[in-house]
Amino acid sequence: MATEALGTATGKVFKNFIDGEWVEARSGETFENINPADTREVVGIFQKSGKEDVDAAVEAASQAFKKWRLVPAPRRAEILYEASRILTERKEDYARDMTREMGKVIKETRGDVQEAIDTGYYMAGEGRRMFGATTPSELPNKFAMCVRQPLGVCAMITPWNFPMAIPSWKLFPALVAGNTCIIKPAQDTPLSTFNFVQALVDAGVPRGVVNIVTGSGSSVGTPLTEHPEIRAVSLTGSSEVGRIVGATCAKSFKHCSLELGGKNPMIVLDDANLDLALDGALWGAFGTTGQRCTATSRIIVQKGVYREFVDRLVERAKKLKIGNGLDEEVEMGPAVNKSQMETDLRYIEIGKNEGAKLECGGYRLEGKDYDHGWYVVPTVFSDVDAKMTIAQEEIFGPVVAVIPCDGLDHAIEIANGVVYGLSSAIYTKDVNRAFKAMRDLYAGITYINAPTIGAEVHLPFGGVKATGNGHREGGMGAIEFFTEWKSVYVDYSDKLQKAQIDRPE
Ligand code: UN1
Repeated sequence: MATEALGTATGKVFKNFIDGEWVEARSGETFENINPADTREVVGIFQKSGKEDVDAAVEAASQAFKKWRLVPAPRRAEILYEASRILTERKEDYARDMTREMGKVIKETRGDVQEAIDTGYYMAGEGRRMFGATTPSELPNKFAMCVRQPLGVCAMITPWNFPMAIPSWKLFPALVAGNTCIIKPAQDTPLSTFNFVQALVDAGVPRGVVNIVTGSGSSVGTPLTEHPEIRAVSLTGSSEVGRIVGATCAKSFKHCSLELGGKNPMIVLDDANLDLALDGALWGAFGTTGQRCTATSRIIVQKGVYREFVDRLVERAKKLKIGNGLDEEVEMGPAVNKSQMETDLRYIEIGKNEGAKLECGGYRLEGKDYDHGWYVVPTVFSDVDAKMTIAQEEIFGPVVAVIPCDGLDHAIEIANGVVYGLSSAIYTKDVNRAFKAMRDLYAGITYINAPTIGAEVHLPFGGVKATGNGHREGGMGAIEFFTEWKSVYVDYSDKLQKAQIDRPE
């Protein structure tokens, strides 16, 4: 049934996956998935779906939920174990597919698949935990406990920057908890979601339990968030889209988990190990071409080491090898698409106009190997004022703003002075200052002597302020989101006992 989507694709047509079948969109229309490193390559052709396709998927998922919720969690978990094993086997092929559709370098796409594998094994373990609680009752001969129950049909709307890891953060916990799912992957990177779901299908996930509907936010995302049968929506995307999705979900009281933007600071104090901080800065700012919600986009450096830090950062940024991410030597790939490249270049112009000093980069890379890709050179701005647009707004590209500061308190004030609060980092050898930063950086994640990227799957992932709405992915937070508490009271006294009223002596 499901072998159609197996293997690496070039220009192949992929259909939606609804009720265990590969089906065309009702519109009969398709869109192309293009390689951003070489736009002459069509990686795959996907369905342009709409409300009717969403309705069909929701119907399938609702039917499937009736049985799936009754499958014992340890049995559901076996499918997750098997899917993770299959992903391990196919890691290299899936990583290559991901580099072709998204552009990030092969080492990173291997990491992305690995993140899905890790999530699968972690969440499979939940099949035999998913702990609730038992607690005493205030009345005699009465038993009290609370248990987790699945929500029902859940919708996942996922981004293009972690095209397999992020779907896995959402699908694996939802499934082990007994929910059925519809995923709408980003239009730039649907293939990795197909590969991921293929692993689940081959691992034995029953029909209708996982469904894929591809298409745009307005034609697929909106009907999903508006659909009365859907109980939960989990979105990773921009704060702008998050605000709309959150408001829509509120109207029908859906659970809604939002993982949104970031403007993540790295603080470098005078006493820091500068070599280490530079390694971290390069990786944090230019890893994934800066296209992470956790990317290091502001580096706040104490004045005593400021000049040296900037000079050494620039020297190293200039040496980064840019190109097609399938080349093992390449350190930074292209922007994911033309529009992201244009956004990067637009912010670079804004930075220049606002008076920040452009130290290196700042342009599109063209010429022989680059003409067919969306390459922006690693860009460092120095002498950035914390209030400038490039120090406030999320760019999602290889553009980093270096901001001078007087010391720890000033650094924290700058770090917290944006609308976002996802990740943060500090480089210092002073344990007192590290602990103060740990306490005072207002963000969902803080790293000490490591850059802002590198979250592990068993810890909560998410942020404060415009970064989200208080939910966390990863670890137990995900089970928390994809389950509903039910409190159960068992009265074995054989008489009516009234809580708060009958007070036994
Ligand atoms: C993201 O930034 O969009 O911490 C997700 C990291 C990865 C996940 C990042 N494990 O960088």
